[in-house]
Amino acid sequence: MIFDFAGLAQGLLLALFATATVVSAHPGEAPPTPREIAAGKLYRRSAQTQYNRCNGSHQSLQRRHAVNTQVHRRQKLLEQLRAHATRRRSGSDYASDVLETSHVSNRTDITSNSTTSAVFANSTDACVLQPEVTIGPYWVSGELLRSNLTDEQPGVPLYLDAQFVDINTCDPVPDLYWEIWNCNSTGVYSGVVASGNGNVEDESNLNTTFLRGVQRTDENGAAQFQTIFPGHYTGRAHHIHVVAHINATLLSNNTLANSADTGAVHIGQ
Ligand SMILES: *[C@@H]1O[C@H](CO)[C@@H](O)[C@H](O)[C@H]1NC(C)=O
Ligand SMILES: *[C@@H]1O[C@H](CO)[C@@H](O)[C@H](O)[C@H]1NC(C)=O
Ligand SMILES: *[C@@H]1O[C@H](CO)[C@@H](O)[C@H](O)[C@H]1NC(C)=O
Ligand SMILES: *[C@@H]1O[C@H](CO)[C@@H](O)[C@H](O)[C@H]1NC(C)=O
Ligand SMILES: *[C@@H]1O[C@H](CO)[C@@H](O)[C@H](O)[C@H]1NC(C)=O
Ligand SMILES: *[C@@H]1O[C@H](CO)[C@@H](O)[C@H](O)[C@H]1NC(C)=O
Ligand SMILES: *[C@@H]1O[C@H](CO)[C@@H](O)[C@H](O)[C@H]1NC(C)=O
Ligand SMILES: *[C@@H]1O[C@H](CO)[C@@H](O)[C@H](O)[C@H]1NC(C)=O
Ligand SMILES: *[C@@H]1O[C@H](CO)[C@@H](O)[C@H](O)[C@H]1NC(C)=O
Repeated sequence: MIFDFAGLAQGLLLALFATATVVSAHPGEAPPTPREIAAGKLYRRSAQTQYNRCNGSHQSLQRRHAVNTQVHRRQKLLEQLRAHATRRRSGSDYASDVLETSHVSNRTDITSNSTTSAVFANSTDACVLQPEVTIGPYWVSGELLRSNLTDEQPGVPLYLDAQFVDINTCDPVPDLYWEIWNCNSTGVYSGVVASGNGNVEDESNLNTTFLRGVQRTDENGAAQFQTIFPGHYTGRAHHIHVVAHINATLLSNNTLANSADTGAVHIGQ
């Protein structure tokens, strides 16, 4: 499965996440062995090759339609965010201060003049989801189906739009439940009290749900979240955890019956 991911951060303007490799572990988690790292690399390379074959084949019609829809959707969101940010920054020269400054992405082919399809339809920006990777100690079951995960946490607002594509059929994957979680701007995860996760004395953090949630993909395999840009904590690059739940059942209280230990899941970050 491939996961095409665009993140729009207010203030940062645009961050594209390329394939992420697990290079280090969370506290309490064994780091991957060299054999696992090599197997992961091989998997991602062959999946990417298979995905690139979708381009131009007879199977690609639906995919192309989905990409066009996706470019249009992301362009609309970007326009809304730009208008909003321009209003908020009426005192400064937004165009030269922000739009022409490179933030985060190492893509040198993007300028403030790039077309939205060059920015949003680049298949080399897709991430491969491996069938199973360790879910890690900071996953919490029973998160709510909701798009805005902010829960009043201060930080740089981050808008995520992802499309899931089955590399075997080249079709988008509808009705997939996309779950994400990330730490807050000072590097602490909600719902967990553990050494290495903020103040271990603060048991009230067990009751928090910030920056965690689930969304269901639409007919284009797409779904969106609003969160905040993940902060830093020791030993890791900034990252967002991702789980794709397939064949999950939504309960009447808006949580998934199919948790990470049942049914098919794809895990990454
Ligand atoms: C996909 O096909 C289009 C049109 O044929 C081409 O311009 C583009 O470079 C191809 N992309 C990849 C990743 O092969
Ligand atoms: C950009 O960064 C990604 C992730 O670190 C890396 O895989 C890629 O090679 C870089 N691309 C360039 C053109 O430097
Ligand atoms: C964008 O286009 C304008 C008008 O053609 C040009 O003056 C400007 O230098 C371009 N900016 C970049 C970053 O390419
Ligand atoms: C896609 O991105 C790669 C680098 O990430 C860049 O070299 C390439 O020119 C881009 N293709 C398009 C069509 O924008
Ligand atoms: C998301 O929730 C935060 C509060 O947690 C709020 O400030 C923000 O406006 C909400 N975003 C949208 C798009 O409603
Ligand atoms: C991050 O979460 C922790 C635990 O709830 C909290 O103590 C801390 O104040 C939060 N960071 C910010 C910037 O609010
Ligand atoms: C968590 O919330 C429940 C319900 O409001 C409350 O009974 C419990 O004491 C809270 N736990 C902590 C550690 O704050
Ligand atoms: C999902 O459920 C359908 C119908 O029961 C089944 O055919 C399919 O294999 C399941 N997919 C996965 C990935 O478990
Ligand atoms: C939702 O319902 C399930 C099954 O009854 C229950 O286990 C879970 O605690 C509920 N979650 C919430 C947030 O109420």
